[in-house]
Amino acid sequence: MTHCQPFDVAIIGGGIAGLSVALRLPEHVRVALFTKGKLGESNTRYAQGGLAVALGDDDSPELHLQDTLAAGAGLCDEDAVRILVEQAPASVRWLIEMGVQFDRAQAGEDAHTTPDGLLLGREGAHCRWRVLHAGGDATGAEIERALLVAVQARSSIELYEETFVQNILLRDGRCAGLHATRCNGESFDLYASSVVLASGGAGGLWLHTSNPAGATADGLALAWRAGAALTDLEFMQFHPTVLVAGGSSHLISEAVRGEGAYLRNHAGERFMPRYSPQEELAPRDVVARAILNEMLTEKTDYQYLDLRHLPSEKMHARFPTISAFCQQYGLDLTKDLLPVAPAAHYCMGGVLVDTYGRTTVDGLYAVGEVSCTGVHGANRLASNSLLEGLVYGIRIADHLAQAGRSESVKSSSLERSSRFFTYDDALESISSSSLTNKLSTAQVTRQVRQLMWQYVSLGRDHEGLLVAKQQIRELRSALQSQEGLDIHFLETLNMLLVSELVITAALERRESRGSHWRLDYQFTDQDLAARHLAFVPLRIDP
Ligand code: SIN
Repeated sequence: MTHCQPFDVAIIGGGIAGLSVALRLPEHVRVALFTKGKLGESNTRYAQGGLAVALGDDDSPELHLQDTLAAGAGLCDEDAVRILVEQAPASVRWLIEMGVQFDRAQAGEDAHTTPDGLLLGREGAHCRWRVLHAGGDATGAEIERALLVAVQARSSIELYEETFVQNILLRDGRCAGLHATRCNGESFDLYASSVVLASGGAGGLWLHTSNPAGATADGLALAWRAGAALTDLEFMQFHPTVLVAGGSSHLISEAVRGEGAYLRNHAGERFMPRYSPQEELAPRDVVARAILNEMLTEKTDYQYLDLRHLPSEKMHARFPTISAFCQQYGLDLTKDLLPVAPAAHYCMGGVLVDTYGRTTVDGLYAVGEVSCTGVHGANRLASNSLLEGLVYGIRIADHLAQAGRSESVKSSSLERSSRFFTYDDALESISSSSLTNKLSTAQVTRQVRQLMWQYVSLGRDHEGLLVAKQQIRELRSALQSQEGLDIHFLETLNMLLVSELVITAALERRESRGSHWRLDYQFTDQDLAARHLAFVPLRIDP
C-alpha cells in the first residue's frame, strides 16, 4: 500500500532533534513525522541535567569550545564544535520562543545565572556554570512538552505515531521515501523528497543502560541498509552514575556532582581525587572507569554517591525527580548513600554527516544521537547532546528550506580525506547458522545485551570482542532465517546488525581513547588522533 501524496520531508523520531527540524521548517513545507512509540516517548524526555550554552557573564563560546574539545580526547571535529557553541545562544532563544521554560532565579536568590536571570548548573569537565535546566532535573521533559504542543498546533505536520520505519526507499541511488509498518501490522510506502533520521541512539544494545527500551539503534540500521556510511561506532559513552536499586535504570544526573556530591567506595573513601585533579567533575569516561576500577578492586557491584554534606532542602528542591525515584526505593537523597554504577548512555558515533546533516546518500539526513557530526569526539561533554539536536536540527531545517533537494556528502570524498579510514562493508556475509532451535525475539535480545555488556563495555580486548562478534553473527544468522514481521522482531534484527558493526569498529581501533578503553592496548596512539573509522556498506541487506 502507498500513501500517495508525496511529502516534502519525512522525519523519523520525535525527540528534540526531530521536533526542532519539524518546527523550524516553514509552514508551507509538508512534513510527515514518525515515532515508533507514542509521541513524546523519546530519550530527550528523560534528560535530566540540561542544555549547555555559554550565556553566563564569565563565559564565552570559546571556553565552551575548549571544554568540548578537551573532553573529546582529540577526536572532535573542531569546525563542527565551533558551529555548535557559537550557534547555541540563538538556538536556545528560538527554543524559548517555542515555549520552553527554563528555571529562573527567585528574587534575592544567591545563584549562578545568566544576565537575564536563567539559572545555570555545573557539570563534569565544564570550566563554567553553563547548563540551563527546567523543573530542576526534568529538563528533557519540559523541552519535549513544549515542542509537542507546538507540533500539534501545526497543520503542516502529519503525525505517524506507533509506526515503525523498516526501510529507506531509494530511487536511482537517491532517497525517495520510506517503508513503514503500523502497530496493527499495516505496511505502507511513503514518498518524500528528503528523509531525516532523528531516531536516537543505541543504549538498548547493552544490558545496563540509562536509555528507555526503544533505544534499539533503528536509525543506524536504516542508514546502513540504505547504503550510508557510519563512523566512530566504537565510542559508546557509559554514564558513571545510574542508580543500582531494584533492577532500576534511573540516571542520577551529573548535575548532582556539579552541586557538590562526592563518590565514595565501600570503605567510605572519597576516591576520585586519586584518579583526577578534576575529582568528581572529571570527564565522564574518567569517572566511569574510576568507579569500575573501585568496583573491581572491592569486588562489589556498585559504589556510592554521597550528598549527606549538602543542604537537604535545597537538594530536594533542585532534584525533585531524582528525589522521588530514590524514595520509591526507600532511599532519602540527602540522608542515605546512593548505590550507583556506570551504564550505557550515549552513542558518540553514528551516521556520518556534514555540518548540514547530509549523509553519504542524496536526500538522506541525520541529526542528534543517530548522527555523527564529530562534535563529541571520543567522549561527549555533559549536556551537549540536547544542544546538538537543537543546533543541528535548526541547521538542517534552514538548509532544506533554502536548498530544496541537495547533494550528499560523497563517499569518495571520505576516501580522499586523511581523517577517515574507510572500510567497504564491515560485515562479512552470513552463512547458515549452527543454531538449530527456533529462537524467541526476547531470548535473542537478552543474549545480545548480555554479550555487549560482558565484552563490549568499559573495558574491551581482542579476545572478548571476537567471542561477542562470533556469537552475535550466529544469532543474526539464526534470526534472519526465521519468519517474523512484528516490530520486536525487526528491532532485534537492527540490534544484531548494529552490535556487529560496533564490535567491528572496537576491534579496529587498537588504542584507548575517551570512552573506548582497550585492555590490550592501554595507551593512546598519537598517530590515531583525529582519525576516524568509517564503514561504507557495499550492499543492501535484504
Ligand atoms: C546527566 O544529567 O547527567 C545526563 C545529561 C547528559 O547526558 O548530558
